Amino acid sequence: MVSQALMRLGSAVSRRRMKLLLGLALLAYVASVWGNFVNMRSIQENSELRIESKIEEIVEPLREKIRDLEKSFTQKYPPVKFLSEKDRKRILITGGAGFVGSHLTDKLMMDGHEVTVVDNFFTGRKRNVEHWIGHENFELINHDVVEPLYIEVDQIYHLASPASPPNYMYNPIKTLKTNTIGTLNMLGLAKRVGARLLLASTSEVYGDPEVHPQSEDYWGHVNPIGPRACYDEGKRVAETMCYAYMKQEGVEVRVARIFNTFGPRMHMNDGRVVSNFILQALQGEPLTVYGSGSQTRAFQYVSDLVNGLVALMNSNVSSPVNLGNPEEHTILQFAQLIKTLVGSGSEIQFLSEAQDDPQKRKPDIKKAKLMLGWEPVVPLEEGLNKAIHYFRKELEYQANNQYIPKPKPARIKKGRTRRT
Ligand SMILES: NC(=O)c1ccc[n+]([C@@H]2O[C@H](COP(=O)([O-])OP(=O)(O)OC[C@H]3O[C@@H](n4cnc5c(N)ncnc54)[C@H](O)[C@@H]3O)[C@@H](O)[C@H]2O)c1
Repeated sequence: MVSQALMRLGSAVSRRRMKLLLGLALLAYVASVWGNFVNMRSIQENSELRIESKIEEIVEPLREKIRDLEKSFTQKYPPVKFLSEKDRKRILITGGAGFVGSHLTDKLMMDGHEVTVVDNFFTGRKRNVEHWIGHENFELINHDVVEPLYIEVDQIYHLASPASPPNYMYNPIKTLKTNTIGTLNMLGLAKRVGARLLLASTSEVYGDPEVHPQSEDYWGHVNPIGPRACYDEGKRVAETMCYAYMKQEGVEVRVARIFNTFGPRMHMNDGRVVSNFILQALQGEPLTVYGSGSQTRAFQYVSDLVNGLVALMNSNVSSPVNLGNPEEHTILQFAQLIKTLVGSGSEIQFLSEAQDDPQKRKPDIKKAKLMLGWEPVVPLEEGLNKAIHYFRKELEYQANNQYIPKPKPARIKKGRTRRT
């Protein structure tokens, strides 16, 4: 009995020990598996960290380079005034990528307004306004004013039209459409949104004048079927349209009769006397004078014109106003002055007179002085020097950016030997 009891006790003890041993073995196994797992994780983590730091080593200099590039590409805009909501206007400039339009854009942007330039780039260039692209107050729209435009604005400076004889004579029908249909579209827009419209008219409405100097009440002497008629008559009818919209629809209009203007951003192939003479003098070519050279012209510098346009737009003068410089010179005097300023040895060459070329042109600016308090202030030589500097740079730019095709290397077909 006792021995049986002892055996039962012995087997119970060994079962418990077995269980204990089994439990301990299981624990040891779990501990070792966990240890391995932790070990592997830390190895994995370590290697991940090493890879990350390697990547970082390579990427950081690249990031640095991108930051430098971004810095160098960040557009630096000319300084712009801050205008409160009340004073800031939404201004549309048609033809704003052209010579005058781009200077007007600069002035209005710097004054703190919101400017939308609309241009079909017939004679204008993106380069003239590229320094504003991306600015929050600026927008550039590629659009032909012969098509209607729907936009919300407070003021419209309507400048879209080719302005120099070679440009407006290149496609006379298009010149007529731009000045007639284009002006109707802009007046329609002004009526719809209640905007004030300023028309960039021209001294050409006086034609080959019989009175000298020309004041605003002179009706002009224009050949309606001559080579200049598409422009002269186009502008005359554009003025008529302005006053019809004013009388019939109550649209607020301003009409600037602009006389010859010059300055940087004139076209290289503008074909007008100042740019022709400067380019000829800079390139050592003869300065070409049409006729005897005794015909007179008066030229204003572009910043004077821009100040006049803004003064007129913001005035209460709705009748036409001449904007020009009354300082009159003969064409021959211009040729000689430009030769001297450029320091050129070019000769002066006389060619036959151009058809319908006005003999005299000089603005009477009493009205602008009296009603706008405006008159030109930039002396001729100062303006000419700025224009000469611009054309010199343009010639350099052209010379450095010409496409010179590289000679192609001779192609040798596989498997064939070239005979020499
Ligand atoms: N520069 C002067 O001496 C002078 C003299 C008298 C009048 N004006 C008038 O001033 C305005 C500007 O002259 P500018 O010298 O700056 O000439 P420009 O040729 O440099 O500028 C005219 C601009 O109008 C754009 N344009 C032409 N047709 C267009 C169309 N259908 N739709 C949209 N855009 C069009 C051209 O691409 C160009 O950017 C013109 O209306 C011109 O008649 C200029």
